[in-house]
Amino acid sequence: MTDASPAPGTRGRPRADETVSAAFEGAPLEAPAGASVAAALISTGRTSWRDSREGAPRGLFCGIGVCFDCIVEIDGESGQRACMVPLRDGMDVRRDRGARGSDGPGDDRDPGAAPDGAKAAGDGAGAAGDAAEDGRSGE
Ligand code: FES
Repeated sequence: MTDASPAPGTRGRPRADETVSAAFEGAPLEAPAGASVAAALISTGRTSWRDSREGAPRGLFCGIGVCFDCIVEIDGESGQRACMVPLRDGMDVRRDRGARGSDGPGDDRDPGAAPDGAKAAGDGAGAAGDAAEDGRSGE
């Protein structure tokens, strides 16, 4: 008799041998089930998928949902963190052009007013980066 129950600790998790198929800017995007959108994009060789307001390339930075550098538009909804969203079959992933064309959810807010104490979208360098850009020295 064969035991059809899942292996211990695997219930509800995607099978490692399953692949999901989506699209990025209309091009095929595939990844193992359970991989994040960012992981899928990285696996295609991309290191950036949007530009900052200044035109600098942005992609995966923190990888844990804090910096917002990785934002994309998913199925028409902008401001999605690619590192936090699992790739799903049929997903339509696009560059996030944000409210003003580039920097995503932080564009319309005070840079110091990011939720959860996180820096708003931008360079991902935090207060030290802000100070350096402003010519300050750790004020
Ligand atoms: S890389 Fe996704 S939020 Fe930082």
